[in-house]
Amino acid sequence: MPPTGAEGLGDGFYPFLGNGGYDAIHYEIDLDVDPAANTVSALTSITAQATDDLETFNLDLQGLEVRSVAVDGAGAEFRRSGHELTVRPASPLAAGSQFEVSVSYSGSPETLDDPGVPFSEMGWLHRDGVIYTLGEPSGSMTWFPSNNHPTDKATYEIGITVPEGVTAASNGLLTSETTAGGKTTFEWRMDDPMATYLAAVYIGDFERIDHGPLYDGGPIIRDYVPRGASPDVAQALSVTPDVIAFLEERLGPYPFDAYGTIVMPFPLGLALENQTLSIHGPATIGPGIIAHEAAHQWLGNSVSPDDWTEIWMNEGFATYLHLMFESEHFATDFDATMTQVHAWLSAEGIGPPKGIGIEDLFGPTVYYRGAATLHALRLHTGDETFFEILRTHYDRSAGGTTNTAEFLTLVDEMAGADAVELVEAWLYDEAVPDTL
Ligand code: ARG
Ligand code: ZN
Repeated sequence: MPPTGAEGLGDGFYPFLGNGGYDAIHYEIDLDVDPAANTVSALTSITAQATDDLETFNLDLQGLEVRSVAVDGAGAEFRRSGHELTVRPASPLAAGSQFEVSVSYSGSPETLDDPGVPFSEMGWLHRDGVIYTLGEPSGSMTWFPSNNHPTDKATYEIGITVPEGVTAASNGLLTSETTAGGKTTFEWRMDDPMATYLAAVYIGDFERIDHGPLYDGGPIIRDYVPRGASPDVAQALSVTPDVIAFLEERLGPYPFDAYGTIVMPFPLGLALENQTLSIHGPATIGPGIIAHEAAHQWLGNSVSPDDWTEIWMNEGFATYLHLMFESEHFATDFDATMTQVHAWLSAEGIGPPKGIGIEDLFGPTVYYRGAATLHALRLHTGDETFFEILRTHYDRSAGGTTNTAEFLTLVDEMAGADAVELVEAWLYDEAVPDTL
């Protein structure tokens, strides 16, 4: 058998997402988009390192038409099957060598049905003249070929060319905006490691609101709102600096160069923490959900789950922090809020975050029983130890990935076996524990 890269990484919910045999280091994605026709002409080049000897390797790409593939500038054979794009370089790659694979493709990107998100279409979406992407967990493969799993993070440059007058936004910093021949190219750059699911493209009639750096040397805050949006939208977003300051106090410095929110001109059934530029619908923005998506920048984006079955580590932590922020913002009694959450979990018989099926990936189990798990730990350890655990949890895996086992090891180190037992009951036992 010739050496090949595996077509999946064996994720507990998405075994065929991601690919074996290499590590992606950097993505350069150039999209020329016709927003009216919803078509793209694109070139994605990935710098990667082979981790095995490879005669073939796979990328994840769903839909679109692949025109050609090259490896280190030489034409490569390819074949497609479902979302697997198999590439055969002209000469095999040696383990340890660095290579660049370029994929030229075009067409009308598709939406995708993700079994983890039965309540929304995912991938590349086109609505009322706006294009936006929702990548979590699997949707990014509808617009660029990748190693589509959070365990393989990389840096990105995303260039988007659109008709003059249209705005295009993406992750990180806008490094240039150049207009020629009736088209404008927006170059975006993400210099910190990013999981594929957090890459995003937004195209439409948006207005950029710049708030400058949060403090000297801090992240810049910038938002995008639909041109002509009600002042209520900007007003709702004005809580963002307070949110970031609140989170920095508890978790440490904001992980990236920039933060902000893009608001769609139509209702969205969800919000999503796309790295440095979260997406929200106009009707649902408020302090809680803004804090939720911002908290994900630390917990979810900088520290990502190493398997999609670890989703409570994103949603439970973000929910706990957003409830804390909300309580501070509205001056309500936080313990009373968590007591209500506990009562509700018990009344509904909400099962354990580590026992969910894929259809409950974004259900109340991971959000609310996940948050209650952290509150129970806090009541057990006291505030000082709890916040030390939280901060160390973030610090240890910043820029990478983690899982429940690592978290339990940390809890054991800092709070001992009783605390581990308590957290395990919240995460694994069918019954909701009787007390917080
Ligand atoms: N991480 C998002 C949040 O909690 C999840 C929303 C569900 N939608 C999705 N496309 N994954 O804010
Ligand atoms: Zn969330």
